[in-house]
Amino acid sequence: MEYIINGGNKLRGEIAVYGAKNCALALLGATTLTPDEIILHNCPDIADVANMLKLLSAMGKTVSRDGNTVCIKGELVSTCAPRSIATLLRGSALILGGTVAKYNQIALPLPGGCAIGSRPMDIHFRGLEALGVKVLDAGDMVSCLGKPHGADHTLRFASVGATENLLCACVLADGQSVIRNCAIEPEVAALEQLLIKMGAQLDGVGTDRIVVNGVRSLHGAEFDVIPDRIVAATYLSAIAATLGEGVVSNCNPDHLRAFLQLLQERFDVKVYENKVYLRSDKHPSDYGTIVTAPYPLFPTDMQSLVMSLAACCSGETIICEQLFENRLTHNAEQLNKMGAHITVNGNVATVRGGDLHGANLAAKDLRGGAGLVIAALAASGQSRVGGIEHINRGYVDLAGNLSSLGGNIYLQN
Ligand code: EPU
Repeated sequence: MEYIINGGNKLRGEIAVYGAKNCALALLGATTLTPDEIILHNCPDIADVANMLKLLSAMGKTVSRDGNTVCIKGELVSTCAPRSIATLLRGSALILGGTVAKYNQIALPLPGGCAIGSRPMDIHFRGLEALGVKVLDAGDMVSCLGKPHGADHTLRFASVGATENLLCACVLADGQSVIRNCAIEPEVAALEQLLIKMGAQLDGVGTDRIVVNGVRSLHGAEFDVIPDRIVAATYLSAIAATLGEGVVSNCNPDHLRAFLQLLQERFDVKVYENKVYLRSDKHPSDYGTIVTAPYPLFPTDMQSLVMSLAACCSGETIICEQLFENRLTHNAEQLNKMGAHITVNGNVATVRGGDLHGANLAAKDLRGGAGLVIAALAASGQSRVGGIEHINRGYVDLAGNLSSLGGNIYLQN
């Protein structure tokens, strides 16, 4: 399966954003904390979520989906995650904290490094150890044992996943925990809000210092997955790159501040409470210097989108990727096939481009794949984008949604 994209159509119209993959995965990880029913609305029907639900179901949860609403309930009957499912998605690691808190043990196979980087888990493990959990890291498998107790712990880096796992481990711990240098991404704040709805005693939502007083048990709750800020940025980038005009609705512009600032300086952008209008008449000279960093600074997940935008410009854009070491190289090679001139030196890419032409392209990771689709929509002529299984991990029908804006993109076997 690949996408066939005939570039050159200006995208126009309005498109709504669906729920965030990275929020849904964290919330699903937290369902291990209670046998009661957790109902998640706006839960995107994407491969990563389907695999996470499969994992929870294989471990004993009763799982059902009705449209975009997902219900999860029941006890885990096994705390050994099956390798065949757990290694399908990195998000499977998000069952660690909740499972160890509720069942005091877990054995979880780990997928290892991936196309975007080596993805170590030391911050998760040091955090759990600080809570008194014994962690046995065998490289491709981790076992955790013991009931967490309260602790004062500082993360060496504000890792999103480690913050999420630690908070889940703290909510049922004995005593008080103070977790410092927490990630403050909106997806982390959403998890904190769900935990409170489930009965957790947690203070400091959305801040880098969270205080948790452990409780004996948590109960069911109903919660809305937040809109996907990366999908919103993908649609906006596609409109900008094709010199189109449109509205991206059902999003939270506040979660997109760093990205919107980049666009606002270059295009006609109007920001409303839950939607963004963008009109792009011509490509800017360049996108300046972009440095990826934890929220609220420029997100790594939007970096490959901007590389494609920058590849449409004749001036020079510098992109410094501080989070995932391999994220620059692959798309640089692919975009160069389309006529861009991108050089990568360590974690810094220098991007120059102009009139891109179609090419045979291969997606190697999720956001990189979306970046290639954007470049192909902006280019002249036809492109083929393979490796779309990566894109399907995190996007609901990307081809169909972009076609609804007038993009000439379709799936071919
Ligand atoms: N890191 C460590 N040790 C750890 C954990 C992280 O060194 O124990 C490093 C990572 O190697 C990286 C940095 O810390 O350099 C940040 O990683 P973080 O843990 O914050 O990322 P994550 O939790 O693994 C989530 C998203 C990613 C997103 C990053 C950064 C989920 C399921 N994934 O990953 O999303 O890029 O935060 O915002 O929430 C994607 O959606 O395509 C994606 C990769």
